Amino acid sequence: MTTNPLRDPRDRRLPRVPEPCALVVFGITGDLARKNLLPAVYDLANRGLLPTNFALLGFARRDWGDVEFAELARTAAREHARTPWREEVWERLASSVRFVQGSFDDDNAFDQLAHALAELEGSHGIGGNAAFYLSIPPAMFPVVLKQMQRTGMADSTPDRWRRVVVEKPFGTDLPSSRELNELVDAVFSADDVFRIDHYLGKETVQNLLALRFANTLFEPIWNGHHVDSVQITMAEDVGIGGRAGFYDQTGAARDVLQNHLLQLLALTAMEEPVEFSAEEIRTEKLKVLRAVSVPTDMATFAVRGQYEQGWLAGQRARGYRQEDGVDPDSTTETYAAVRFGVETRRWAGVPFYLRTGKRLPRRVTEIALSFRKAPHLPFAPTDTEELGHNQLVIRVQPDEGVTLKFGSKVPGSVMEVRDVAMVFLYGEQFTEASPEAYERLLLDVLLGDATLFPRNAEVEASWAAIDPLEEFWAGTEPHPYRAGEWGPRAAEEMLAAEGRQWRRP
Ligand code: BG6
Repeated sequence: MTTNPLRDPRDRRLPRVPEPCALVVFGITGDLARKNLLPAVYDLANRGLLPTNFALLGFARRDWGDVEFAELARTAAREHARTPWREEVWERLASSVRFVQGSFDDDNAFDQLAHALAELEGSHGIGGNAAFYLSIPPAMFPVVLKQMQRTGMADSTPDRWRRVVVEKPFGTDLPSSRELNELVDAVFSADDVFRIDHYLGKETVQNLLALRFANTLFEPIWNGHHVDSVQITMAEDVGIGGRAGFYDQTGAARDVLQNHLLQLLALTAMEEPVEFSAEEIRTEKLKVLRAVSVPTDMATFAVRGQYEQGWLAGQRARGYRQEDGVDPDSTTETYAAVRFGVETRRWAGVPFYLRTGKRLPRRVTEIALSFRKAPHLPFAPTDTEELGHNQLVIRVQPDEGVTLKFGSKVPGSVMEVRDVAMVFLYGEQFTEASPEAYERLLLDVLLGDATLFPRNAEVEASWAAIDPLEEFWAGTEPHPYRAGEWGPRAAEEMLAAEGRQWRRP
């Protein structure tokens, strides 16, 4: 890392640039690499955040050379980059792009990869540092990890770091995630393992920590004395796209509830960390995840659904079972809603309603805290008929920002109180655009900053909350909902059972 001896290492205002290093991507021809990783590498280079001595290596089965790979990388970066295209930036990157062809069980290919790394050390001065990104199905992890172990590629030494980046899903349940963690931990030391949950790379998710812990306004009321309930929504209007093979085996709960939504819950409910460091933040999140309780009455408070044919934005949308590659009798859920509890002094008794779904009316992710109603209102009941709960809503995406909803007098000669909204929008307050989640997370991997990456214990605690739901749902039919609707009726009934309603964001 370029360091200035006069600078406090905790000073995060100046951009940090990683030490010379290489990024090796397994599964470079996949969707994630094309749409997210390669553009993120370009965007970082364009922002001057990659070291001068940087190399990018792709590993895949395709019969390509460096030139073909560089061309694919260029096309992907150009198509999906966030920042303006500058040919000279790409040209500089392209000079240190390498491709290694082979399958994961091919010893020879891994020897070549080790050789390519060693060669780049001499020719490009990468200092022996390398991050290995496993953008591959989890079933492939064992063979790739073993190859890295065999070739000594995974070994960090005092002179060089070696890190591994693992994509979700981290297993399919608690036992399989433990197995996976053991496997990774046998090859890399815990500090060198980076588990990506790209929601943690989103600007608004990080702002949640700023909102809570940099202000005095919110924290005193951030507890069960004042908060009536919390709703965390991750709604998508898209269907499953071309991912039937993965999705039909996975379902909404394993795909996003176990990771993105429970991480949002953890950040919402956690105590203040002693300092803003990986160790302290992860420790506080873990405590929350361990305190998560699943509903005892699952029939009412754990609802899963599957979309049927319907209409979205004026277009007819197919039902899930009619999607290409989906089993026509599939019982996989595309919607999940659960009432969790957090059994701590701060949150006991406060329901955390989490929901996610595909083919809902719009794409929106938000965290909404709904506050208790005033114990007494000195107005006539008719004056406050349109007054709801005060709410604080953190909009993760799109239209990133924070909204405070509270009652206000309607102008006029009579007393009438109605809800109004005070809105903060990132787009209006700041001129800088937010980096993409992968840009931020990739940079953090190269810097060795693990703050935004869940620890293995967090992953396991999250599975411990999901496994009982999966057990309960196994062999049952998901509730149907029409594409373009806000999920199944049973989900509405779940909140109605406690006198509440889902927000309509
Ligand atoms: C991924 C899920 O983790 O997140 C997808 O596998 C989902 O099913 C995606 O569509 C949503 O990400 P984002 O950043 O578009 O909200």
